[in-house]
Amino acid sequence: MKRIAILGSTGSIGRNTLSVVESYPERFQVVALAAGKNLDGAFEQARRWKPRVLSVAAEADADTLRKRLKQAGISGLEVAHGTAGTVKVATHPDADFVVSAIVGVGGLEATYAAVKAGKTVGIANKECLVAAGELISAEARKQGKPLLPIDSEHNAVHQCLRGGKMNEVERVWLTASGGPFLNTPRSEFASITVEQALNHPTWRMGKRITIDSATLMNKGFEVIEACHLFHVPPAKVEVLVHPQSTIHSMVEFVDGSILAQFSVTDMRLPILYALTYPERIQSDMRFDVGNLRHLDFCPPDMDKFPCLRLAYEAAEAGGAKTVALNAADEVAVAAFLEGAIRFDEIPGIIEHAVVASNSDTLQSIVEVLEADAEARRYARKRIKKTAEPRAASV
Ligand SMILES: NC(=O)c1ccc[n+]([C@@H]2O[C@H](COP(=O)([O-])OP(=O)(O)OC[C@H]3O[C@@H](n4cnc5c(N)ncnc54)[C@H](OP(=O)(O)O)[C@@H]3O)[C@@H](O)[C@H]2O)c1
Repeated sequence: MKRIAILGSTGSIGRNTLSVVESYPERFQVVALAAGKNLDGAFEQARRWKPRVLSVAAEADADTLRKRLKQAGISGLEVAHGTAGTVKVATHPDADFVVSAIVGVGGLEATYAAVKAGKTVGIANKECLVAAGELISAEARKQGKPLLPIDSEHNAVHQCLRGGKMNEVERVWLTASGGPFLNTPRSEFASITVEQALNHPTWRMGKRITIDSATLMNKGFEVIEACHLFHVPPAKVEVLVHPQSTIHSMVEFVDGSILAQFSVTDMRLPILYALTYPERIQSDMRFDVGNLRHLDFCPPDMDKFPCLRLAYEAAEAGGAKTVALNAADEVAVAAFLEGAIRFDEIPGIIEHAVVASNSDTLQSIVEVLEADAEARRYARKRIKKTAEPRAASV
């Protein structure tokens, strides 16, 4: 029986993980959960899964949840909150495996704590690898525990890498759906609405990652994520647009062989792979190969999608540059979702924050969080500058 803690249990990855757990009750048990603001979701999960600890983001919400659980006669469960709460979930002594699926840098301290506590971590929260990949992967190596990718592309690469040795790898190919604006002329980017940007062609995910997929920043983050997970330089990670999202990614070896992984576009499959690694177990997620008609590929357009270029540049420079990349993106995406800036203004805000940051190596999570806060301040100032003249002219 594998005992599981989930960071971000009320989100898209969290709920998919619980769906996998539900399908294999003889294999998996939930011991700790961390949610954010979704109190109803957290309450339902407490009732259904009876974890030993359940954390929510705010202290006031934790109080409300305790009362609701008491009224419902649900006992024997500790309710925690904030970063201390997520760390408690991530390091729970009964947990063998931690799914890291909080969105953004809000999941960083708990993910790092899980790795440091010697847990096997299934990692969906790519932003924490973008911000602190060196520290997290160094700690995982020190603990002798794998970081198992849940992100479908990296999960595919992980599977392909089982076909050769690391020193035989020529290149990692990350496929990208291209997002909803693959065929939209750049001249129309200024009028893209939030609703259009949230309409991803192949995947149903949380809002942040969906907007990041529309700008291709998500793919940029994945390049950095791949560098940390597989210890390859950015120059060895190539992005290939593949609108069908059938091939989840590929590895090219020095002899010219290319191994590709394809399967249904269902996140439960990479989650199941990570939870059962190094085993593979029976599932009903079948891809109909007989119905496969064609696969299209083309290189990404970095002029139309400058976020991908920014990510490569930040990855090459390292240090606080990738921290700023993620922090400014998080702030810019939130501003776009609130209607404060236009879709085509997102890359410029990120670029300014990245340029202002430095490339010194960060030695600790505290330093990462300081660099993150600095980049957020810079991005917010820039957003104000961008949005204010427009507000004044209305
Ligand atoms: N969705 C996918 O298919 C997919 C694929 C690959 C990688 N990923 C990565 O996986 C991560 C999660 O993505 P998602 O799509 O599942 O996002 P999501 O649906 O927005 O879920 C985010 C989760 O994080 C929780 N959360 C947010 N802030 C928190 C905080 N301060 N403290 C504790 N919990 C907090 C949310 O709680 P509440 O909802 O309760 O507020 C929710 O449970 C992201 O890093 C994303 O890039 C996702």
